[in-house]
Amino acid sequence: MSQALEVNPLTPTIGAEIVGVDLAQPLSDEMFDHIHDAWMNHLVLFFRDQQITPEQHLAFGRRFGNLHIHPAAPYLHDNPELMRVHTDKDSHIQNGAAWHSDVSADEEPPLGSILHLHRVPPNGGDTLFANMYAAYEALSPSIQNLLIGLEAHHVSDYTNQYGDHKPQREYPRAVHPVVRTHPVTGRRALFVNSGFTKRIRGMSRLESDALLEMLFKHVTNPRFHCRFQWEANSIAMWDNRCVQHLAIWDYYPETRSGIRVTVQGDRPFFKQEAV
Ligand code: SIN
Repeated sequence: MSQALEVNPLTPTIGAEIVGVDLAQPLSDEMFDHIHDAWMNHLVLFFRDQQITPEQHLAFGRRFGNLHIHPAAPYLHDNPELMRVHTDKDSHIQNGAAWHSDVSADEEPPLGSILHLHRVPPNGGDTLFANMYAAYEALSPSIQNLLIGLEAHHVSDYTNQYGDHKPQREYPRAVHPVVRTHPVTGRRALFVNSGFTKRIRGMSRLESDALLEMLFKHVTNPRFHCRFQWEANSIAMWDNRCVQHLAIWDYYPETRSGIRVTVQGDRPFFKQEAV
């Protein structure tokens, strides 16, 4: 390896800071493999002091797959692959303020998201990340058995969320397994989130609401979490197949601003045996 990569875990459960890589430079295949392995092991990676251009950000994202276009969010530089993440004194809501997995209402939800913040508030504006393998594994065998084979409706509605910006496409909706198998690690992850999951298929409204409420509450257990404190030019990249996140809006009226590049994923599936 031309650069020495350090992987410093934030918690034993989720999150690692990567030191020793400059993402403005082209990545060797060896360096890419190290980053990918660290990502699969730690689920969310953090990089500091990355002065990357939008082109370099796009190039880094493309190493992981084709890029995803958000259905409704504004974008920068005339390129819908460069999603704008911005909150300031004129904002009335902040993107991502509820626990969610990005655009899980897509038939093929994004595999991962790579957020680069250029401007951060003097304090606050942290993001929480939760490990959905750990959330699944912490459920009792009785609840795990109940969930396996169930499917849930994921519905998006971005009305009034992005001001006058005209949506890129129709707001998506999809049905996905409640427990999914990660296509790379073969591990099982809980795949319902309070942002998009509305109803479990084949259950009465009462049954579905009660089960989803229990699962949404379960996800908020801090033992599944890490918390990232941003600095200008930090990058976080998370694996939406096994991670949920929540951005805390505690810094009004300050500005927090950056760009997200999102990588297209596959249709979620559940496999009884390990992949
Ligand atoms: C998001 O992409 O959901 C927003 C995350 C953040 O702003 O920290």
